[in-house]
Amino acid sequence: MADNEGNIDAKNFGIGIPQKQEGFFLKGNENASYGIKSRLSQVFNQKSGHTVMLAFDHGFIMGPTSGLERIDLTINPLIQYSDCIMCTRGILRAVVPPTCNKPLSLRFDAGTTILTSLNDETLEDIEEAIRLNATLLAVMVAVGDPDHEGSTIRNLTKTVDMGSRYGIPTLGVTAVGKGLGRDARYLGLATRVCAENGANVVKTYYCAEGFESVANCCPVPIVIAGGKKLPERDALQLAYDAISKGAAGVDMGRNIFQSDCPVGMLLAVREVVHNGATVDQAFDCYETYKAQNK
Ligand code: 5RP
Repeated sequence: MADNEGNIDAKNFGIGIPQKQEGFFLKGNENASYGIKSRLSQVFNQKSGHTVMLAFDHGFIMGPTSGLERIDLTINPLIQYSDCIMCTRGILRAVVPPTCNKPLSLRFDAGTTILTSLNDETLEDIEEAIRLNATLLAVMVAVGDPDHEGSTIRNLTKTVDMGSRYGIPTLGVTAVGKGLGRDARYLGLATRVCAENGANVVKTYYCAEGFESVANCCPVPIVIAGGKKLPERDALQLAYDAISKGAAGVDMGRNIFQSDCPVGMLLAVREVVHNGATVDQAFDCYETYKAQNK
């Protein structure tokens, strides 16, 4: 309890020393609120400026995807090696231990599956996201989808508005779906639309041709999805190329949890994303871990 007698007088006023003013380390978020910056600092490593997010939200459109049949057995042991997890509220509540203490990119929209048209989405309640202690709100945006472009952009806008009210940043996720391209022109447009509508971070796919322009024209950080399972070296090459060309991280799923050595793969991806490892060095990290943990 504070005393009102015998206190030492304050004297270290730092006269002549301007108060330290730190710029925010993530592009496009300098003018965000304290809560948003604080949460983004939990997702992104302040030293590297990058993040390795572990995505296992696939079930909400794909059902029990290979590698995600028993998330308690396959994913929970991986969580400690990630910087942030991305999943639905159902899996979070049912399977992910609240003691894992990892930032959460909460799948904040819900909608149609691969059995129908995809991307016909609604939003959850912001109070639910707060109850779940969400760090980031992930919302799909189906740019170019004639049936769902407007509604998914409205979803993003509402999410940004709700999230801003409570200091929770938004991750705009460029959609998957038939007829939605994956070239630089499409990805550049889709990512820019997400950022223009207020997303604090954007998730998209890597493209070999012109990814630099996609990353450079997006005024907020981009993280890339891994996509379908590739041979491990190719997936590491994908991560390397994306980071070299301006991505701020990965939000990877299948190339981690469908690997024959998911922990080794996650550690190898971390080497690329945080420590500037080459593909050879990262692949060596994966193989060494795998050999030592047979
Ligand atoms: C789907 C998603 C997934 O989380 C995303 O595709 C990441 O997983 P993968 O690396 O397996 O592609 O956002 O909308």
